Amino acid sequence: DWSMKTFIEDKVREIREQVGDQKVLCALSGGVDSSVVAALIHKAIGDQLTCMFVDHGLLRKGEAESVVETFGKNFKMNLVKVDAKDRFLSKLKGVTDPEQKRKIIGNEFIRVFEEESAKFGDHRFLGQGTLYTDIIESGTETAHTIKSHHNVGGLPEDMKMELIEPLNTLFKDEVRQVGLDLGLPEEIVWRQPFPGPGLGIRVIGEVTEEKLRIVRDSDAILREEIKKAGLDREIWQYFTALPDFRSVGVMGDVRTYAYTVGIRAVTSIDGMTADWARLPFDLLERISNRIINEVDDVNRVVYDITSKPPSTIEWE
Ligand code: XMP
Repeated sequence: DWSMKTFIEDKVREIREQVGDQKVLCALSGGVDSSVVAALIHKAIGDQLTCMFVDHGLLRKGEAESVVETFGKNFKMNLVKVDAKDRFLSKLKGVTDPEQKRKIIGNEFIRVFEEESAKFGDHRFLGQGTLYTDIIESGTETAHTIKSHHNVGGLPEDMKMELIEPLNTLFKDEVRQVGLDLGLPEEIVWRQPFPGPGLGIRVIGEVTEEKLRIVRDSDAILREEIKKAGLDREIWQYFTALPDFRSVGVMGDVRTYAYTVGIRAVTSIDGMTADWARLPFDLLERISNRIINEVDDVNRVVYDITSKPPSTIEWE
């Protein structure tokens, strides 16, 4: 697409002019927007960019490794990976309310980012993957928030860094095109939306390592099977959620009392409304069998057949 190539050239020139010989910091989440903004700024100023990736322990299986592989190894960016799992888990101990969890995760993210970025005191600019749609959605027309959409890109205002937001005139599909033109791998460019609070809001109730294991392992199976079935681009989001209860089952001759995994798969244009995806029954059966066989302490799998509204996409 010629217009995106021109876009890239223009932005590269603008970023170089704005930054000069100063340094830029970016929070990289592995999502499309932060990935594209990092790649774009990197193209403009190379080693003057440092990317910070905070692993809050609420990521999907293999996600942290893939960010390090893509940006550290392939793009050879200055990438700082912060392992903050224990901090987040201990802050979330005993917390069950969804909005409370969001607040804690959001605040802790900012605290970690501030502490770690203070170690690079000489970064004058902060690169952010703000899109045109983000600006519209956070506008005053949005009368009330159904869920406080803490975006992991949303950083403290008092950081005294100047913002660089080169994507703020683009829509999502244009951002994907820019990403492809910059050489980002398809699995990043076509990555499904993933909420900032991560698996923290897919484990219903208190977040524990044990419950994170179940949701993470079952989610990996679901993603693998959806991909194998060739449906990964048609479905807006697909993931598993873990309700906070056990139910009775039978395995061999033995009664079990174990967790239920919920499968959520929706089609959508923008996430504002969504329809539950009509996944083929044989695919659902394969996913269910694999989850039961491969994930310990699960004896039941259910499929969510509600649309948004009245439901939301996430379960919390
Ligand atoms: P809901 O669940 O409100 O989700 O139908 C709509 C879209 O927003 C994502 N989502 C979030 N994203 N922080 C985020 O960055 C959040 O707290 C959050 N909650 C929901 C959700 O994954 C879906 O794409």
